[in-house]
Amino acid sequence: MPPLNLTDKETRTKFLPHCRLKQGEIWHDPLGKHVVGCGDCCDETFVRDLMAGRPKARLAIQDPPYNLIMFARRSVEEYLSFCRKWVENTYRALDDNAALYIWMGADQKNHFQPLPQFLSMIAETKFVSRSFITMRNQRGYGTQKNWMAIRQELLYYTKGEPEFSVQYTDIPKILRGYYKHVGGEEKENLDRSRSQTIRAGNVWVDIQQVFYRMEENVENCPAQKPLKAIERIIFASSKEGDTVIDFFAHAGTTLLACERTGRNCVTCDIDPIMAEISIRRLEHFRRTGKTGWQRANPFDDITVTMADVSPPSHPVQSTISDIPA
Ligand SMILES: C[S@@+](CC[C@H](N)C(=O)[O-])C[C@H]1O[C@@H](n2cnc3c(N)ncnc32)[C@H](O)[C@@H]1O
Repeated sequence: MPPLNLTDKETRTKFLPHCRLKQGEIWHDPLGKHVVGCGDCCDETFVRDLMAGRPKARLAIQDPPYNLIMFARRSVEEYLSFCRKWVENTYRALDDNAALYIWMGADQKNHFQPLPQFLSMIAETKFVSRSFITMRNQRGYGTQKNWMAIRQELLYYTKGEPEFSVQYTDIPKILRGYYKHVGGEEKENLDRSRSQTIRAGNVWVDIQQVFYRMEENVENCPAQKPLKAIERIIFASSKEGDTVIDFFAHAGTTLLACERTGRNCVTCDIDPIMAEISIRRLEHFRRTGKTGWQRANPFDDITVTMADVSPPSHPVQSTISDIPA
């Protein structure tokens, strides 16, 4: 069965009653670890409620819509005004010493908007820029008339002076021949290394993009990030027991990564269906040890018909105002 058409009004009307959160509501994990909200992360009061009773976060992993193909497309000014609000709310939710990672897109057909404008906007805040990471996707687009587009940009900023733990990939070190004298002895670079594998730098080529054959795949979540990428960020920039925030939950990847690594996640999504999928993914993992559903539907309690997966009869955009409560 192909993925559900969650932009279709009728399909959404059928699935919404199966979502436990309405706009502004918050789910508290019965095990006391995580919090999932359904609401607008630009809303200062909603974010304050989400964080209530929780220690300030040591890490934020934000993956907003990129103002590109998927989700609603707005003018750059509107997009920046949206970003300014969630960046401010992120700053307030973070500890004095904390890390912020932001996945960001660049429209190559349109002067790479909104990346340059976003970089200028965040330069006006108190966040300090630290790294510009590129993750290589396996699949790309535009192969015949342009360079294949295979990159995902990840920006790393800090507030104060958070700790950072160096991370290693699984790629074995194969380059030899860089000798140095250490304690009167000539040593080859591998002898001097802390690891037999390559350290993760600011270009990541070792992470598989999520696709339908992978266990972690969550159907209906086209913007899902790989767990391996999120866990690399978590291990580099937080410790066990820390609070990690993610205001754009979608498939609940940060939530699941926090569960697997012993962090406490505070997350939300403006779309009740995405908030529900995130909670269900955590519950599914706790029940089965599985990280996703591969090709199966997370809503196995609802009978899916072809009408739910066919092209929309009344298309709606996933914008703040269009999502039914
Ligand atoms: C790019 S996806 C995030 C992908 C996520 N990192 C993952 O791995 O599954 C963006 C998500 O942000 C949500 N969103 C858009 N605007 C929002 C807002 N103002 N507040 C909260 N969530 C929002 C969308 O519904 C969508 O699910």
